[in-house]
Amino acid sequence: MIKDEVLKRLKDAEDYISGQELSDELHVSRTAVWKAVQSIRQEGYEIEAVNKKGYRIRTMDEDVLNQTELESHLHTKWIGHPMIYKRQTGSTNDDIMALADQGAKEGVIVLSSMQTKGKGRRGRTWISPSEGNIYMSLLLRPQMRTDAVPGVTLVMALAVYQAVREYCRDIHKVRVGIKWPNDIVISVDGGPYKKITGILTEMRLEDTEIRDVTVGIGININMEHFPEEIRKTATSLYLALGEHVNRVRLIDTTWEYFEKDYELFLKTQDLSLLKEMYEEGLVNRGRKVLVLDPKGEYQGLAGGIDERGRLMVLPDGKDRPVAVESGEISVRGVMGYV
Ligand code: BTN
Repeated sequence: MIKDEVLKRLKDAEDYISGQELSDELHVSRTAVWKAVQSIRQEGYEIEAVNKKGYRIRTMDEDVLNQTELESHLHTKWIGHPMIYKRQTGSTNDDIMALADQGAKEGVIVLSSMQTKGKGRRGRTWISPSEGNIYMSLLLRPQMRTDAVPGVTLVMALAVYQAVREYCRDIHKVRVGIKWPNDIVISVDGGPYKKITGILTEMRLEDTEIRDVTVGIGININMEHFPEEIRKTATSLYLALGEHVNRVRLIDTTWEYFEKDYELFLKTQDLSLLKEMYEEGLVNRGRKVLVLDPKGEYQGLAGGIDERGRLMVLPDGKDRPVAVESGEISVRGVMGYV
């Protein structure tokens, strides 16, 4: 897009660039350059236009989100090249699958600030308003056993946990954690843990082989208002920290961690090399949990995870732990959500 090209040149320039220079370099009309500058301004950049000198970026809003910003801060080898940003979409998971059908390469990411058909786990809807959150999905084309794929969701959870924890490093009132298997939770001043993310991994097969895997994640970042019915269990980073969060920084750090973690996952096709890091964040560990097994609910004491990502639970009155599979079974704290 012309706008992206103009923005790239304005960001790289040390001085003013004239409209003529831009139009010559990009082989477009002066009017097209002017229109591009207008839409860049609408995204939150303040651009000076000085007679006989040209354009120069003066400042930008804290929270400008676009492909140029996202890619220019991203330090990864193969993830997020490209990072396709859409202001609004149906579902970023569906976008990735459509791109995969057109032959897109592994590592492409689609991000959006709003979804109209956001999908959650177990066929639920993921409400995705445009209130400063982020919804994003990644295309993977892994050569692995199908039963290893659920582990990718835990790798994604670990990466978000690491990125959020790094972001909150100097904010001592908050504690970040992972609620098994893949919710990232946050607690303020020792209060209850509340959920700030959801992850949905979708796998498509061709005969028995994996065709592609789409990992989608929604993070409540700068959302200020939550519907009454979920206020007890869900929050946003903004509400927890009391300040707006730089989305580009958080998004890019998440994918940088994911790339490193996923490469470790691929070495063994399981979580053996990540188990320790994951358990460091696991808030269920050492807590009483209620296991909602369709075959019968029971209570027990949660331990860590095994290399397949299953939660080890010692049922009350038993002397051997049980490995709880994600998917069918969910786990709650006996006193509440965690
Ligand atoms: C859950 O139910 O906890 C999982 C929610 C996953 C939501 C994300 S938002 C980005 C991606 N696109 C979707 O339609 N869903 C996932």
